[in-house]
This record gives sequence, structure tokens and C-alpha cells, in this order.
Amino acid sequence: MAVYLVAVLLLLTPCQPVPLDFPPLSNSSLTFEELSNTTEQYSTQPPGTIRRTPQTIIVGVRKGGTRALLEMLDIHPNIVVAATEVHFFDWDENYVKGIEWYRSLMPFSFENQITIEKTPGYFTSPLAPERIHSMNSSIKLLLILRDPTERVISDYTQVYYNRLENHKPVQPFEGIVIKNGALNTKYKAIQRSLYDIHMERWLKHFSLNQIHIVDGNTLIKTPLAELQKVERFLNLPPRIVSSNFYFNQTKGFYCIRSDGRERCLHESKGRPHPVVNETVLEQLYSYFREHNQRFYTMVNQTFDWH
Ligand SMILES: *[C@@H]1O[C@H](CO)[C@@H](O)[C@H](O)[C@H]1NC(C)=O
Ligand SMILES: *[C@@H]1O[C@H](CO)[C@@H](O)[C@H](O)[C@H]1NC(C)=O
Ligand SMILES: *[C@@H]1O[C@H](CO)[C@@H](O)[C@H](O)[C@H]1NC(C)=O
Ligand SMILES: *[C@@H]1O[C@H](CO)[C@@H](O)[C@H](O)[C@H]1NC(C)=O
Ligand SMILES: *[C@@H]1O[C@H](CO)[C@@H](O)[C@H](O)[C@H]1NC(C)=O
Ligand SMILES: *[C@@H]1O[C@H](CO)[C@@H](O)[C@H](O)[C@H]1NC(C)=O
Repeated sequence: MAVYLVAVLLLLTPCQPVPLDFPPLSNSSLTFEELSNTTEQYSTQPPGTIRRTPQTIIVGVRKGGTRALLEMLDIHPNIVVAATEVHFFDWDENYVKGIEWYRSLMPFSFENQITIEKTPGYFTSPLAPERIHSMNSSIKLLLILRDPTERVISDYTQVYYNRLENHKPVQPFEGIVIKNGALNTKYKAIQRSLYDIHMERWLKHFSLNQIHIVDGNTLIKTPLAELQKVERFLNLPPRIVSSNFYFNQTKGFYCIRSDGRERCLHESKGRPHPVVNETVLEQLYSYFREHNQRFYTMVNQTFDWH
């Protein structure tokens, strides 16, 4: 399968409390969209293929490693992936365009292939679970999560750089997260990290065994083991192997090797996270602790989050 670009960014060592981002980055000067354009998504239809609505969706979470997961799954010959985040189920202006519009954005696939779309915004969208359920009630969902505090910092970092690029004023992390000495729990990035609240909505429409949760922190450390679990969940033959990954010592993260090509992240885009005040970090850890426990019970799975 044409795999577009990139790998996982593991710009952290185990002792660092806060990892860097793993954004979509390329081994060339082309942007992700430009690269995607050269792939099957826009090319002519290979004989024997059609566009299908996805049998699997990566529903989130934003800054959880959804791009890395998608790129890695694309190694598998029985998987084809949509090149862009479609935002069909979470944006009303797209949803009204109908399922045929959605299908037209999917890549061509053979009958034995699974189509995967990823839009991280689905996980926190109030309407997405019900809408996805009405498309295919037996669909398989993938959810990649990471430590909720790390996710907040990563979310902040992305917005921070976007604002810088657009010449908008920026605030230090602590200035947004702390208001009048207390944690600003209304901050959207904090709300998005309340995994129990969001998961509850999904479990109203889907059974737990339809949802496979990938630990984003583990995926970047040991990609193969995590991907093998996904292969089993999707009932796919094991095709992703250790030689599809190689650790680049200099960069400090795994790169992908498949279809005779090697793809790594472009360093210039590795965005360092701010060093966050310890007291504020502790406040965040303790705020999320109860929510995390509730989430572990809900999904019958634990994670080594703070
Ligand atoms: C992709 O290709 C189409 C047709 O060649 C072109 O119209 C479109 O502008 C391209 N998109 C990007 C992001 O380059
Ligand atoms: C619904 O999803 C399941 C699980 O991925 C898949 O086997 C089935 O073919 C899908 N149905 C349709 C109509 O796409
Ligand atoms: C590893 O990363 C370094 C630094 O970015 C780069 O110069 C080198 O080509 C990479 N090696 C491989 C095998 O990807
Ligand atoms: C980047 O792409 C070039 C040309 O396609 C290739 O020769 C090189 O090995 C790639 N580097 C990495 C680190 O993947
Ligand atoms: C961290 O923030 C607290 C108040 O929230 C402040 O008392 C403390 O001095 C700060 N620590 C550092 C190292 O700036
Ligand atoms: C919870 O997980 C354990 C081990 O993964 C499994 O044996 C058990 O059946 C699960 N319970 C439920 C209610 O899914």
C-alpha cells in the first residue's frame, strides 16, 4: 500500500516527565497534504477497487498519537487509510452533505482490505457516537490515549505555535491553566482530557469489545507490540513485523520502513513543550486522578498515567 510519510516522534527519554509532540511530519519538504495528493487517494481507480465507507475509525484523542497510529497501520497490506481528517461526524456542515460525500473521500480498496479514517475530534464530539453507530452499528473503533496531563500540555503547545504563526498573542501555560489561584477546569484542553466523561457517551452506543484502546505512551516506546494487538482486534493476519521499524539513535525515535522506503519525522517541526511549574503539574495530576480511575473501571483496563 502506498504509505504516505512519517513515523513516530519519540523525542523523549523515559526520565523526562513531559514528552514532545509527535506531529505529522515528512522526510521531504512537501507537506502531508501535498504528499497525500500523489497517492491513491486522488489517482485513478485501480481495477477491482472501489471506495468504501470505513470499517474502522480512529476516533481520537487529539494529541494522543492518532497520526502515528494511522501511519503505522498503513504498513499493513490489508489496510488502506484516508489521507485527511474528514470531520464528517463531528462537523454539522459536513454531516449534512451525506454518506455519499463521506464515501467519496475514502481511498480505493480491494474487497479484502479495511478502510480506516481518523478524525481525533470525534472522541470529544457529543454527536459523533450516535452518528457513527447509525452508519454501522458493528463498526470497530480505535482510540489512542495518553497521559491526560501530557495531552493538555501537548494541546496547549499546538495552539501556542498556531497563534505564533498567525501573529496572535500567546500566554504562558500556567496563565491559562490557573485562574485566581485555582485550576481553570473550563479550559478546553482540560475538558478534552476527561476521558471518562467522553467514554461514557461512546459506551451508550457501542459495546466495549467494539472499542480497542491503544496506549499512546506505549506505542511510541514499543510500536510493534501495540500494532500486533490492533491486528488481532481487526482480525487481520499478522503482517507488521519488527523490520518495519528502526530506532534512529540520533533522533531518538522510531522510523518506518515499508514498501522499500524509509520515513522519519522532520526535525524542524519537533515542537518542544514548555517546562511547566511543578506545583501546577501536581494540580493537574491530582485533578485527573479520579477521572482516570473511573475511566479504568469503565473500560476494564489500566494505564500508568500520573
Ligand atoms: C491535489 O490535486 C488536485 C488535482 O490535481 C488539485 O486540484 C489540488 O489542488 C491538489 N491539492 C493539494 C493540497 O495539493
Ligand atoms: C461494519 O463494520 C464491521 C466491522 O468492521 C464490518 O465487518 C462490516 O463490513 C461493516 N459494515 C459495513 C456495511 O460497512
Ligand atoms: C537518523 O537521524 C539523523 C539525524 O536526523 C539523520 O541524519 C540520519 O540520516 C538518520 N538515519 C536513518 C538511518 O534514518
Ligand atoms: C528520505 O528520503 C530520501 C529520498 O526519498 C531517502 O533517500 C532517505 O533515505 C530518506 N531518509 C529517511 C531518514 O527516511
Ligand atoms: C510555581 O507556582 C507556585 C504558585 O502556583 C509558586 O508559588 C512557585 O514559586 C512556582 N514555582 C516556580 C519554580 O516558579
Ligand atoms: C476485564 O479484563 C480481564 C483481563 O483483561 C478479563 O479477564 C475480564 O473478562 C474482563 N471483564 C470484563 C467485564 O470485560
